[in-house]
Amino acid sequence: MKLAILGAAGGIGQALALLLILKNQFPSGSELSLYDIAPVTPGVAKDLSHIPTDVKVIGFSGEDPTPALDAADVVLILAGVARKPGMDRSDLFNINAGIVRNLIEKVAQSCPKALIGIITNPVNTTVPIAAEVLKKAGVYDRNRLFGVTTLDIIRSNTFVAELKGKKPQEIEVKVIGGHSSVTILPLLSQIANVNFTEQEAEELTKRIQNAGTEVVEAKAGGGSATLSMGQAAARFGLSLIDALNGKENVIECSYVESDGEYARFFAQPIRLGKNGIAERLPINIINKFEKNKLKNMLETLNKDIKLGEDFINK
Ligand code: NAD
Ligand code: LMR
Repeated sequence: MKLAILGAAGGIGQALALLLILKNQFPSGSELSLYDIAPVTPGVAKDLSHIPTDVKVIGFSGEDPTPALDAADVVLILAGVARKPGMDRSDLFNINAGIVRNLIEKVAQSCPKALIGIITNPVNTTVPIAAEVLKKAGVYDRNRLFGVTTLDIIRSNTFVAELKGKKPQEIEVKVIGGHSSVTILPLLSQIANVNFTEQEAEELTKRIQNAGTEVVEAKAGGGSATLSMGQAAARFGLSLIDALNGKENVIECSYVESDGEYARFFAQPIRLGKNGIAERLPINIINKFEKNKLKNMLETLNKDIKLGEDFINK
């Protein structure tokens, strides 16, 4: 297995690469390929390569990611700029849209069958950008492109456990919609053996939706979530690797091209298999509070999606 990280020298990239190695879940003989425009990247790879592990780590810098992408099975993209206090994720569009477009063009040429996870914000928009670039290149497969929303899930697990005095490892919250403000919708009503008052559900939903901003403000200009995102991306990347290796019943929530019931792209539970998404699983919303939140997010989500589509097509 070869996993390539694009944007690997940054805050998320370095945490992610370290966690991927430490988790020891790669099949033996696997390769971790690090790419970033920053010249330090081969040094980051050299540093990691001194950790005793079966994974071979190689690093590339410069303008062209092609050598890092050759024969990659999984590509995680986190290249780009991060938020500072006072910014929304959509404020990152002007810089990050072009970065994602250019990198995906290279992915389309070098490893068109790879499973691609997009972490670069605004995810609601960068994923449609990636889809349209892959479509133009004639290699788009809607089962192989993922917006990584796992951070919303691990945050939800942590916050629910804190509130209800449970172990976070025993909680798994489905989070649907997208990855910004009102488009992040944790399905609190579906957590086994945990109940919330309407006020608790309202406050907790708001906290999960604003959790990225909580970190941005606490870092006071030093960037956004990197360590928790490293953990989230490692979990998602390894789920992709596990599924490619034939593990059954690998379930994650991810922002993917949906069957179109709510929006073209929608974060939802999926079952992963050897070819990416094996099945889009039902969302099963039955709770009135969540139904309303879902209805109220759709205008924002669809606008975010259209912005990405238009960026490539107009
Ligand atoms: P960072 O600034 O620490 O790192 C970004 C890296 O990207 C830098 O090393 C930079 O050199 C590199 N880069 C910039 N342009 C590049 C290009 N054209 N090719 C290759 N590399 C390039 O930022 P970070 O904290 O690691 O965050 C990265 C991105 O991830 C941001 O857009 C951030 O908003 C996003 N993010 C997403 C989630 C999520 O849940 N999806 C969570 C946290 C952060
Ligand atoms: C997050 O949720 O922490 C990320 O999307 C980064 C951000 O800008 O909030």
